[in-house]
Amino acid sequence: PGRPERPVPGTDFEAVAPNIDDAVVVPDGYAQNVVIGWGDPVVPGAPKFDFRNQTAEAQAQQFGYNNDFVGLIPQDPLGIRNLLVANHEYTTETHMFPVDQYDPANPTEEQVRIAWAAHGLSVVQAYRDPVQGGLRVLPSRYNRRITINTEFELRGPAAGSKYLKTSVDKTGKKVFGTQNNCAGSVTPWGTVLSGEENFNQYFANAGTVTDPAERERLDRYGLGGGESRRKWERYDKRWDVAKEPNEVNRFGWVVEIDPNDPNSTPVKHTALGRFKHEGAAVKITKDNRVAVYSGDDERFDYIYKFVSKGKYKRGRSAHARRHNMGLLDDGTLYVARFTGDSPAGEIDGSGKLPADGEFDGVGEWIKLASGNKSFVDGFTAEEVYIFTRLAADKVGPTKMDRPEDIEPNPVNGRIYAALTNNSDRGKAGKAGVDEANPRVGNRNGHVLEWEEQGGDAGATRFSWRLLLVCGDPETADTYFGGFDKSKVSPISCPDNVAFDRHGNLWISTDGNALGSNDGLFSVPVDGPERGYVKQFLTVPYAAEACGPVVTDNLVLVAVQHPGEDAPNSGAPTSHWPDGGRSIPRPAIVSVWRQGRFGLPGDIGTR
Ligand code: FEO
Ligand code: CA
Ligand code: CA
Ligand code: CA
Repeated sequence: PGRPERPVPGTDFEAVAPNIDDAVVVPDGYAQNVVIGWGDPVVPGAPKFDFRNQTAEAQAQQFGYNNDFVGLIPQDPLGIRNLLVANHEYTTETHMFPVDQYDPANPTEEQVRIAWAAHGLSVVQAYRDPVQGGLRVLPSRYNRRITINTEFELRGPAAGSKYLKTSVDKTGKKVFGTQNNCAGSVTPWGTVLSGEENFNQYFANAGTVTDPAERERLDRYGLGGGESRRKWERYDKRWDVAKEPNEVNRFGWVVEIDPNDPNSTPVKHTALGRFKHEGAAVKITKDNRVAVYSGDDERFDYIYKFVSKGKYKRGRSAHARRHNMGLLDDGTLYVARFTGDSPAGEIDGSGKLPADGEFDGVGEWIKLASGNKSFVDGFTAEEVYIFTRLAADKVGPTKMDRPEDIEPNPVNGRIYAALTNNSDRGKAGKAGVDEANPRVGNRNGHVLEWEEQGGDAGATRFSWRLLLVCGDPETADTYFGGFDKSKVSPISCPDNVAFDRHGNLWISTDGNALGSNDGLFSVPVDGPERGYVKQFLTVPYAAEACGPVVTDNLVLVAVQHPGEDAPNSGAPTSHWPDGGRSIPRPAIVSVWRQGRFGLPGDIGTR
């Protein structure tokens, strides 16, 4: 049928072509600015960034490294003033310090402390410039850094567990810091949820543990070996599993930050389980409870859902925020099983569609624990929450191709998950294909959507189908929602997902296996243009595209690790955003359309 005369609202732009430019490339007619980047001031009075003279004290007041999730919380009805929240997922010290200053085998204590301060989250107040367009940071009392030294409260059914007590915290209810915060979401009550993802990489000497039960737990979470890459254990024994065995159990949670209150103590929610949380996103159930979806980003790991016991209070008052944050302390934790509806013989691993024309089927949510009650043999409830992967292994969930970000669609009510890739799928000794993960050696990933029974996020059954099987549209192993593949943009390794007001899905990518830069894509999920993937922007060389936020007249994208393929200190492969011979800096970019009279116009409408 070809392209309809009136494009789907919100996606009327000319797609950006794949490229390897060291720039953020946006469609014709659009403008951009850097909102904030590594080293820029966050806390009022923060020192100016000085690459050759970094200090932990300065970094703790400046924007951290490797921004991933971005949340934008409007503070007025027009969204002129906003709170901008960003995660700082991880550090790469060989990029952060001059080559003559940093010895990877022997980092100084100050360099380690700088890395601690470069992790966590930043909160800044930012205004939307109504004349020039774009988002700009304000010095404000809301501006705040959360780092590895910030005190968190561990809450929910596992708080105070014997597995969470350390020599510093005998209560098992207080943790310093958050790390490897990947994706996240803004809750309906105006706070931010953030997933602690690859927390294991920070811990040393897990390989020295020999107790079989402990060994099994550590192995399932990827904890082994001796020295850590960053060598933090030299300056704080909590990063040494041999000396402080329970500290590892205090990471791998969903954390909640209340950016509206700069003095609030952030929370780690044990009721949502412990695994490599990519992120967490909320949908309200039909009877007004809170469902939270979260993926465990590892090859062959699972998708989870939590449903609260108590009911949601509308609004964003301090009272409502406190009440709703408390809902995540008590509820039921489930893990997902996806069952295909086509004969197994038709799912041959090539990516070829089965005879019914779709990778689809039904599924169920399998209960793991509810409050203090466990549904898994051999596990107490607190063991389900703390060693969630091992408990889930017992109940037969579907092993997925690396579940990344998950978000509910505000228009059609369905839920969308990015499954970024899994080159091990179908390899000898590994799980084979199934209809929900249908390609052997899946290098380009896919996007899954499901509909809870009755459209209710509290349901325990659902139906599902694949929206996209990503890759080069010219190859036979890809699928774009049934849309004409000759018109779509190539897309690879979907990671973060978001929706615009019209219900179009926006996908940012990480690790493009097709050889060009990562970027941000839009795709309608309903109507005649379902599956019409268009590239909205590309990010600089060797960067990952994160965020994203899509409002009516502004797009935010986080540019993570530009130039990561070679250390900065030698010959950086990226000089973004400062240009010249500068080192690259991770940063957040806002993009807007130049409308009539030079005023910012609707983001995707000409
Ligand atoms: Fe930090 Fe799963 O990406
Ligand atoms: Ca099917
Ligand atoms: Ca991610
Ligand atoms: Ca990623």
